[in-house]
Amino acid sequence: MAAFSYICDSVAVITMSNPPVNALSSALIRAVQKAVEEAIGDFAVEAIVIRGDKGKFSAGADIREFNRLERGPPLVSLIDLIEDSKKPVVAAIEGVALGGGLELALGCHYRIAHAQAYVGLPEVLLGLVPAAGGALRLPRLIGISATLSMITTGKYVQAREALKLGIVDKVVGENTVDEAIQLAKKVIGQPLGSRQLSTLPVQCPPNVEAFLDEAMVKVKKQFRGAQSPLACVEVLRAAVQLPYLEGKKKERELFQFLYTTDQTRAQQYAFFAEREVAKWTLPSGASWKTASPQPIRTAAVIGLGTMGRSIVTSLAKAKIPVIALEQDKKQLDIGSKAVMSLLDREILKMEQLGHTEFTNSLGPVQFTLDYGKLRDVDIVIEAVFENMALKKEIFRHLSGICKPEAFLCTNTSGLDIDEMASVTNRPQMVIGTHFFSPAHIMKLLEVVHGHYTSSTTISTAMRLAKMLGKVGVLVGNCPSFVGNRLMRLYVEQAVFLVEEGSKPEEIDRALEDFGLAMGPFRMMDLAGLDIGWKARTEIGLTGPKLPIGTPARQRGSKRYSPLPDILCEKGRFGQKSGQGWYKYEKSGGRNAMPDPWLYNFLSEYQRIHNLKTHYVTQEEIIERCLYVLINEGFKVLEDGIASGPEDIDVIYNNGYGWPKYTGGPMYYASIVGLPVVLTKLEKYYGANPDIPDLKPSSFLKKLVSKGNPPLKEWRSHLGFQSSML
Ligand code: 3HC
Ligand code: NAI
Repeated sequence: MAAFSYICDSVAVITMSNPPVNALSSALIRAVQKAVEEAIGDFAVEAIVIRGDKGKFSAGADIREFNRLERGPPLVSLIDLIEDSKKPVVAAIEGVALGGGLELALGCHYRIAHAQAYVGLPEVLLGLVPAAGGALRLPRLIGISATLSMITTGKYVQAREALKLGIVDKVVGENTVDEAIQLAKKVIGQPLGSRQLSTLPVQCPPNVEAFLDEAMVKVKKQFRGAQSPLACVEVLRAAVQLPYLEGKKKERELFQFLYTTDQTRAQQYAFFAEREVAKWTLPSGASWKTASPQPIRTAAVIGLGTMGRSIVTSLAKAKIPVIALEQDKKQLDIGSKAVMSLLDREILKMEQLGHTEFTNSLGPVQFTLDYGKLRDVDIVIEAVFENMALKKEIFRHLSGICKPEAFLCTNTSGLDIDEMASVTNRPQMVIGTHFFSPAHIMKLLEVVHGHYTSSTTISTAMRLAKMLGKVGVLVGNCPSFVGNRLMRLYVEQAVFLVEEGSKPEEIDRALEDFGLAMGPFRMMDLAGLDIGWKARTEIGLTGPKLPIGTPARQRGSKRYSPLPDILCEKGRFGQKSGQGWYKYEKSGGRNAMPDPWLYNFLSEYQRIHNLKTHYVTQEEIIERCLYVLINEGFKVLEDGIASGPEDIDVIYNNGYGWPKYTGGPMYYASIVGLPVVLTKLEKYYGANPDIPDLKPSSFLKKLVSKGNPPLKEWRSHLGFQSSML
């Protein structure tokens, strides 16, 4: 680790080096400080350029040092030193300038960025606020409104947008450091006052107080329950109301407060968990280190329905040429129009951000009905109806057509990967790539490993996730895999609570107040109640295949709620039909309104089935819905379907709108305390013995008996022999 410098024509070039992302560790800060002091004191130096080693400026403060007790030198004083320098300092930004990295660049007098570079203040995503003057200098450069949007969302801004906003002075296609040296030479001797951001006034809209009040209301609504976005608005208020130095004090105070909260610990855990899941290992010893992914130069998608069209868009956004195939001309026309409209929207978004070259940077999409066109693609992703017979027919067909090296993937939400693989001539190259809707937006890819799947196939699918900008999580093959397996029980519990006397809107509110992006009833209405109904009909839980004489509210020895089936029989499919658990202004409407019809219907249902209702508290809603999900999480670990609690958390944080500031369901359980979760499950199971999913899992019991070990030790209590991975 070093900050080394060389002098080029009177310009000192200081290189920050701390692989892999030049995080500003204590040692690096110290080294840069020393190099800057030397350059300032050196008569031969007239200007300074700061750059990052290996094409990355800096990813900000070293997050790994956050938990250390001893503090290193403050980044703030280094940045002040740079800004106060009488010799011009130019930041040469390649790769990323994030968090403290961007704050350091904002302390420089000029900033040049490579066209592919990103800048941002993502501290909020770690439950923090920018702590080295970023939220004080940025509004002095680009104004309150643009700063607000950047610091409350933590979004990464590409160089061209940064130029448009005024964050960087110039964007170059190559030789960023040389350009920075040229600029530094050009400005030698010029006054720097207007380039010292901390000395400038904040750029405010006319009624800035009202603007900030409104921002606070919006942010509260948008990031329900999260503390750090609110603190970001507070820092901005300080930037507006206080002189720079006092603003700095306020920034420090807020940072120090957030630094001690559970939310920041949970978000840091979530950050590292996302990186951890990429490092998969199989009991056979194969792992991300030893397996080599094969190149994916071209892809095909079969079926252009809800999922297929957004998978095509996701591939095109990653510049992978795609062949999109449908079953007949009519579906192809509908599907191709849908894809083109999604791509147009993407282009528009990018153009608005100043990326004029984006149109050409989308991968080409070719639409076809001809399977023959799939002969040479590297990977095929099947996204047809959720029907095993149809999927097997397609896999058999692909097997005969595709080149032997082509990987065959299925987007099934939960069917058996091995059964599909068994009809192909390459079962080792068959894998589940379970995208989430809409696939071009959602960050999660569940990569489902079948019995025959080779490590090369796994590593190729994991690489695909990365290419698409997604987090790939490797899971084993079982009905509904990990995400949907847990989700089904959570939703079922919510429906039981309605039978027991609660209302859909009460349950949704309780879970949304907990932080979930959407409660279960609004989610079912959005996804379409008919999807689950079809699946239950197909497996004989309802409909013509259900044996005559089956009790309405029982399947085997388990409680069953026919409520969702009855709603579907009445044509209430959710948003698409204008009615479901809620009513909507019209078919396809989005405003969920409580429906008096449903209340009458539920009373009648409770009367017919002789149900005793009770007052369901918010506590019971949260505990029953979330603990049943968590309990299944422990079973998934026990079954070896996920290799660790981090995998489940990453799936829930990125695919199911779980609030990241609680870390994910398993991390949340560890914070609540496993003995508490166990006791509550025992209580609810005792009261509802016909819901076996509430019965505490043996792995949960084992962990409690081992003294409630911290989450990072849970894996060591799992037997390897049970692993399906
Ligand atoms: N500190 C320490 N380690 C970091 C880091 C950071 N700021 N950023 C990334 N890393 C590590 C990752 O943990 C990973 O380690 P591993 O190889 O041991 O798993 C390695 O760097 C590579 O990271 P990725 O796998 O994420 O690599 P990518 O190339 O996909 O992404 C990135 C690179 C865009 C920089 C991404 O890592 C990222 O977004 N990092 C977070 C940046 C961030 O949040 N910065 C703010 C820090 S807080 C701060 O600066 C406070 C300030 O206001 C004082
Ligand atoms: P959909 O019903 O919207 O689309 C399926 C498409 O497949 C239709 O356009 C149909 O014409 C086409 N198709 C059917 N047979 C075909 C054939 N022989 N050749 C080519 N195309 C054919 O279905 P949806 O929702 O897109 O689901 C697709 C798959 O993705 C299913 O396996 C589903 O379980 C899974 N999935 C769905 C999610 C969702 O939110 N809808 C989420 C994640 C996975």
